[in-house]
Amino acid sequence: MKIIVTGGAGFIGCNFVHYMVKRYPGDEIINLDLLTYAGNLESLKPVEGCPNYRFVRGDIADRDFVFSLFEKEKPDVVINFAAESHVDRSITDPEIFVRTNVIGTTTLLDACRKYGIQRYHQVSTDEVYGDLPLDRPDLFFTEETPIHTSSPYSSAKAGADLFVLAYHRTYGLPVSISRCSNNYGPYHFPEKLIPLVISRALNDEEIPVYGTGENVRDWLYVTDHCTAIDLIVRNGREGEVYNIGGHNEKTNLEVVQTVLRALGKPESLIRFVTDRPGHDRRYAMDPTKIETELGWKPQYTFKTGIPVTIQWYLDNKDWWENIVSGAYQSYFETMYGARL
Ligand SMILES: NC(=O)c1ccc[n+]([C@@H]2O[C@H](COP(=O)([O-])OP(=O)(O)OC[C@H]3O[C@@H](n4cnc5c(N)ncnc54)[C@H](O)[C@@H]3O)[C@@H](O)[C@H]2O)c1
Repeated sequence: MKIIVTGGAGFIGCNFVHYMVKRYPGDEIINLDLLTYAGNLESLKPVEGCPNYRFVRGDIADRDFVFSLFEKEKPDVVINFAAESHVDRSITDPEIFVRTNVIGTTTLLDACRKYGIQRYHQVSTDEVYGDLPLDRPDLFFTEETPIHTSSPYSSAKAGADLFVLAYHRTYGLPVSISRCSNNYGPYHFPEKLIPLVISRALNDEEIPVYGTGENVRDWLYVTDHCTAIDLIVRNGREGEVYNIGGHNEKTNLEVVQTVLRALGKPESLIRFVTDRPGHDRRYAMDPTKIETELGWKPQYTFKTGIPVTIQWYLDNKDWWENIVSGAYQSYFETMYGARL
């Protein structure tokens, strides 16, 4: 199979590319990524040179580029990770979220319609369901929970999901959607909570925590997300949404305290800062459908995934120190600048 993975230079995309390149040597994996601030070719070093892997730089919202790529490659499967993904950035600049997350998605869908596809898979998020109250631990998001977004980020992701489902209903396009809870693990950009805590704590820097740190997120180790997507693409039903989550709900404060404890750093590094506007209170996924229909089970709990993640950041300081210093931007220019 020839598979286009978009956004494969980002956090989850690169973990997915590593997984697929190793697991399916007979498949051809084409990684299409624009390399925004969030895309990092250093994350792809483990697969560089693998015969079943190629990188193509491009914009999923650039119609001419996308159509000419599909004309040339005729992919069997498209898995769309590419997105603007940071809620705080969406609050300061919503428009780029509409362009990449919505127009980028409809551009890929149109190319799939024109050139034919076995499966288009949209990587979506629990954030499309909005949030749950903190005092109702009995409530979970199911696939039937209405879309009810809070931020420009989640609104753009929800818009994309609705287009994906509309292309199935209207044109019969073979699509699927996964909505996953918060991921953590290797190659996570240091602006996000867990790598931010690790990188700042290692440098004995203050750790900002929004509000009182009581917001609850449901954490999943990234490779568990990758195995779920692989299962859905191969065995999931067309036109269906699958929720992915591992029942690992933690308050943001608990996450920070766990990481500080594991690193032997004091809680005095924590600094409570003014809350994010519209901050979602609690996310919690019900993954019954993917568990019962497709037999998916996560390998890691939060307790087992956090030490593995911390160890990875300790063993790969160059990777995140380069990002923090901005040096990886020049790495890209050196590697590819003259060839584009
Ligand atoms: N991180 C999470 O916890 C989480 C949870 C659930 C779902 N998701 C979804 O998973 C996907 C990947 O998330 P992530 O955290 O890896 O994001 P990320 O920000 O780390 O990576 C996004 C990637 O997309 C690329 N990209 C951005 N705009 C592009 C464009 N116009 N054309 C081509 N490539 C472009 C970037 O260069 C980057 O490599 C997103 O769709 C996100 O909504 C993320």
